[in-house]
Amino acid sequence: MKRILITGAASGLGLAMAKKYASEGWAVCVADIQDEEGRNIASQLKEQHNSDCFFQHLDITNEDQWQQLVNIISKRWLGLDALINNAGVASGGAIDSLPVKDFQWTVDINLMGAVKGCHFCVPLLKKSKGMLINVASMAGLVNMRRMSAYSASKAGIVALSESLLSELAPFGVTVSVVCPASFPSNLLSTIRSSSADGVKVAGKLMARSPVSADDIATRVYNDSRKGRHIIIPHFREVILWKLKRYLPGIYYIFMKKLVHKIISR
Ligand SMILES: NC(=O)c1ccc[n+]([C@@H]2O[C@H](COP(=O)([O-])OP(=O)(O)OC[C@H]3O[C@@H](n4cnc5c(N)ncnc54)[C@H](O)[C@@H]3O)[C@@H](O)[C@H]2O)c1
Repeated sequence: MKRILITGAASGLGLAMAKKYASEGWAVCVADIQDEEGRNIASQLKEQHNSDCFFQHLDITNEDQWQQLVNIISKRWLGLDALINNAGVASGGAIDSLPVKDFQWTVDINLMGAVKGCHFCVPLLKKSKGMLINVASMAGLVNMRRMSAYSASKAGIVALSESLLSELAPFGVTVSVVCPASFPSNLLSTIRSSSADGVKVAGKLMARSPVSADDIATRVYNDSRKGRHIIIPHFREVILWKLKRYLPGIYYIFMKKLVHKIISR
């Protein structure tokens, strides 16, 4: 039985991925700060799929808790085949209105949380020749205005992932980075934002998404097994990303003048 640790698995995309991997016969460690939800999900998965799914409280910013979890996994599972650094938070607002402490909060959780996950779990993945999957965002590839903290934290995850792609290849560890655009989840319930309008637009974009957390979970499952590095589940955003890479002049005009009119409609 393959063994996977998913952070932020009590809600949204993490929950969808926990269900997907459990349904494919994997043992899943549901790690989150939401104890009650996490515990319920792990016991449901265990019952439904007769697999060794369990919950462990983990604040991804806490190094002691990471070490404790690695010890638990090493004892219980004797190894780990995949880690998904999925837990994250959102923030928004202009650079001169979002408090610096909220910028820091975003980077500490989104980027440094994933860094800590890699630091503590990579030794196990090297032993199993496993898979490392980091959840970034489209905001890590194309960076919208008034989302500088979130974008910087997610662009950091994209850079971290590319660096580890070549660093871990000699050990047989594959590295994927998932870059979804907006999709419905509970992300806005904890958002720190200096702009109520911005949160409204984000809510609209999430509701309008043609892609659900379950769709993304299936893409992650299939594409990471093929060793795909960048996984972009939203089709329209693939076009935007290609525009930035191949026609940057047009892309920057589009971003400065047009994109905000389109997304706030
Ligand atoms: N929903 C979107 O539109 C969207 C788009 C692109 C990327 N993402 C990314 O997808 C990932 C999952 O988010 P979601 O949209 O499913 O949101 P969500 O809020 O539904 O789920 C996030 C989970 O992370 C957990 N979490 C938050 N801080 C934590 C911490 N310090 N330690 C451990 N767990 C913590 C939460 O308790 C929650 O269960 C995030 O990394 C997010 O940035 C989301």
